[in-house]
Amino acid sequence: MKNIQELFDFKGKVIIISGAAGAIGSEASRFLSSLGANIVMADLAEEKVKKIAADIEKETGNATLVMKVDFTEEKEIENLVKNTVDKFGKISAVINNVGWGANTPLFGSDTEKMVNGYKLNTLSAYNLTKFCMPYLKKEKNASVVFSGSAVGNTPSPEFIEYSTAKAGLLNMSRSMVVASGPEVRFNSLIIGTIDNGASSKEAGYTQEMIDNVVKGIVLKRRGLPQDIANAMAFLLSEAASWITGTELTVNGGGVYKSKMPTS
Ligand SMILES: NC(=O)c1ccc[n+]([C@@H]2O[C@H](COP(=O)([O-])OP(=O)(O)OC[C@H]3O[C@@H](n4cnc5c(N)ncnc54)[C@H](O)[C@@H]3O)[C@@H](O)[C@H]2O)c1
Repeated sequence: MKNIQELFDFKGKVIIISGAAGAIGSEASRFLSSLGANIVMADLAEEKVKKIAADIEKETGNATLVMKVDFTEEKEIENLVKNTVDKFGKISAVINNVGWGANTPLFGSDTEKMVNGYKLNTLSAYNLTKFCMPYLKKEKNASVVFSGSAVGNTPSPEFIEYSTAKAGLLNMSRSMVVASGPEVRFNSLIIGTIDNGASSKEAGYTQEMIDNVVKGIVLKRRGLPQDIANAMAFLLSEAASWITGTELTVNGGGVYKSKMPTS
């Protein structure tokens, strides 16, 4: 029987993480690097991701590869995969984590915004996974994780571009699951509200809105990036080697509203 250290030993693994300069991506990079992995950290925010990667290398002693990538550009994703294989010779796992969406009224969007939401949140994951598949298939316990969202799993007219794209991401991952076993495992996280600093404000959340959401969350707090990094590490680990096609909800119990009318 393997012990917990063996099950969570990522030494020699090469993991690509998209959106690695963000709150969740940087925490996942740090955590998986501390467990022994070589992380390929890709993000549009070049200076930010470089600095985070340098700190991680100092902390863990494990080499990273930093790439400036616009995940809405297919060629740049292809190049990321090529550079990863040139440097490390293999790809063990992928975290399709890049994504974002602004608060938009249901019929306040337009073709360009809808398509941009799809390119960033859905197509990015399609392309990265597609280009990585030939390498993943060669590895033992190869695995892909998707950063899905609670808004992609419930009606969310306030975030119409983002919620539609995240719903597409979920169903796309289900297709990958059934077509790609037993060589590669695919799992999605259904992520609730995470404290990601400035990003929530840019997406249209005011402090008052955040406080209101927190009141309704069963565990009475927003999630921390580490809460999501923990779940990602589990799904990529040997401990999850018989888990594929799952949608793991990490949302503090979700937002509960009483079914009884209040007045
Ligand atoms: N934070 C939440 O509450 C929450 C909830 C549910 C799901 N999620 C999902 O989790 C993932 C990570 O969220 P986060 O809170 O860490 O986000 P974040 O805003 O902190 O980070 C996102 C990162 O993506 C990068 N990025 C944006 N556009 C890019 C592009 N075109 N190419 C390359 N990089 C680009 C940004 O530079 C940033 O570093 C996203 O997919 C998000 O949709 C987040």
